[in-house]
Order: sequence, then structure tokens, then C-alpha cells
Amino acid sequence: MGKIALVTGANQGLGFALVEGLARQLGSADIVYLTGRDSQRIGAARERISGARADVRARLLDVRDGGAVTAFAERMRAEHGGVDIVLSNHYLRTVPEDVPADVIGAYVDANNLGTTRMLRAFLPVLRPRGRFVVVSSTLGRLRELPIPLRARFEEVQTLDDLDAITLAWRDAVIDGRARDEGWPEFINIVSKVAQVAAVRVVAGRRRTEDLAQGRLVAAVCPGMIDTASSRPWFDLTGAQSPTQAAVALLRLVLEPEPDPAYYGELVRFGKVLGWP
Ligand SMILES: NC(=O)c1ccc[n+]([C@@H]2O[C@H](COP(=O)([O-])OP(=O)(O)OC[C@H]3O[C@@H](n4cnc5c(N)ncnc54)[C@H](OP(=O)(O)O)[C@@H]3O)[C@@H](O)[C@H]2O)c1
Repeated sequence: MGKIALVTGANQGLGFALVEGLARQLGSADIVYLTGRDSQRIGAARERISGARADVRARLLDVRDGGAVTAFAERMRAEHGGVDIVLSNHYLRTVPEDVPADVIGAYVDANNLGTTRMLRAFLPVLRPRGRFVVVSSTLGRLRELPIPLRARFEEVQTLDDLDAITLAWRDAVIDGRARDEGWPEFINIVSKVAQVAAVRVVAGRRRTEDLAQGRLVAAVCPGMIDTASSRPWFDLTGAQSPTQAAVALLRLVLEPEPDPAYYGELVRFGKVLGWP
């Protein structure tokens, strides 16, 4: 049976490089789903893929649409018996000029609820030896938050509770309470911490069975990459290209026997980053 891989937010940036890398490294019996939120953009991205050995299929998948995420996962089960590789990579960008209170609703919906929707829908269809990787960031470490806020993300037990914590932060930003409550001003930080927390929540429940069946669930930091999302924010001197950044992530999802120490953790260039 061929392998089934899926990448969210794959029409540009790191997601595109991940699809292209998977398509080149997997075989002719394998399928890579290049997904995104806009039909034209994913169609155009499909045309730009070069050197593919696997069958690359462009499909609409807007992670803000919970019904669509669930339906996509069910389709994978019906058509292929499940999936082998999921890279939850999507990212709704902001620019420094944005007022956080104006953009945070859509930001959390895509970047955080979109991630927990992907975990809920696709983990049940992840085949034995499957990989589910959430693309997060070094900013996703707990130490990026002030001490009084850390326990919320450290002690949370379910994805529903985590969504509630994330939405409470979103509301604090909208209502202008966030600064007084101690939340960092750069909304990317809390969003990335919550993504790593989501991985830790599901890993806590699935660890024994997943490790027994050779599955890997992890968060990754891809390092600094020159893309449309990072360009407005950072000095990108020395940053990786998306193709360069994809190398370590592809190694993680394609290596036959990943280090069990990666399970449930935030991994950067093959090293586990401490959470607390
Ligand atoms: N760039 C960096 O330096 C860096 C560093 C650390 C971590 N990361 C992480 O790496 C990942 C990829 O980032 P990137 O720099 O490659 O970003 P990017 O170039 O901005 O690409 C983001 C992708 O996500 C898609 N997207 C946005 N909203 C979506 C939705 N609702 N449903 C599905 N797809 C959606 C975008 O589609 P459109 O084209 O339609 O907008 C785009 O294809 C992100 O998780 C990011 O946080 C990046």
C-alpha cells in the first residue's frame, strides 16, 4: 500500500517545500496532498512542483472550517484506509502594522483552533508508523511566557480545555486586558506555545499506544526561514530558504525509526527543546 501524506498551508513558503520534498522522496505508489485555503493558489502551486515521483494532488482545505477538516480526514479513511504523514503547517500571517485586537480573532481561528481541529480529525486516521507533526516555533517554549501564565498550558489535559484557554487569551487581547494580565505583546508567542501544548495534550493520552505502533506525534521548530510571513518582522540575513528548512522536517517524518524521545516534544534540527 502506498503512503499518504498531507501538508496544510502548502501553496507557498515552507508548506510548498515540504510537499515538493515529500513528492521527490516518496515513491510512485505514494500520494501527497498539497492543501490550502484558496483553489487558485493551490492549483498554481501544484503546477510549480518539479521532480515529483509521488502523485501530488492539490485539494482545498481551509483549517478554519471544522466540517471540512473532519470531512477530509474521513475521506482519507474511506479512500486510503488512513494517512501516514500529516504536516500541520498552515499559518495566517500578520504584519507589524496590524493592531492585535483587530486580527487576533482570525489568527487564533486559523493558527490555533485550526491546529486542534487537525489533531482531532486526523489522529484517529493516522495509520501505524504514521507521523503527525505540528509546525510550531522556538517561541513555543513555555519559558517565553511569564511564570504566572505558564501553569495554564502546562497543566491542561484536553484539547477542549486548551481551546478555552486560547480563546480566553484572544478575548483579553480584544478587550484590552492582555497587557495587564501579563500576556506577551507579540501574539505569535502565545499562539505557538498553545500549539506545542496541543501536541503535549494529545501525546499524553496516546503515548503508550502510539509508541507501541511506531507512530510519532511531535511539534517542530523549522528555524528562521525567508518567507512572506517572516519578511515583514525579522532581519532575515542568513535565514534558510524554505527548501533548506524542509530538510530536517522531512528527515523527521521519513526516517523509519525516529528517536522515541521526540514523541510529544518540540524538536528543532533533530534536538528536543525543553518545554518548562
Ligand atoms: N518563516 C519563519 O521564519 C518561521 C519560523 C518559525 C516557524 N515558522 C512556522 O512555519 C510554518 C509555515 O510558515 P511560512 O513562513 O511558510 O508561512 P507562509 O509562507 O505565510 O505560508 C503559510 C501558508 O498557510 C496558509 N494558510 C493561511 N491560512 C490558512 C487556512 N485557514 N487554512 C489553510 N491554510 C492556510 C497560507 O495560505 P495563503 O497563501 O492562502 O495565505 C500559506 O500557504 C508556520 O506554522 C510558521 O509559524 C515559520
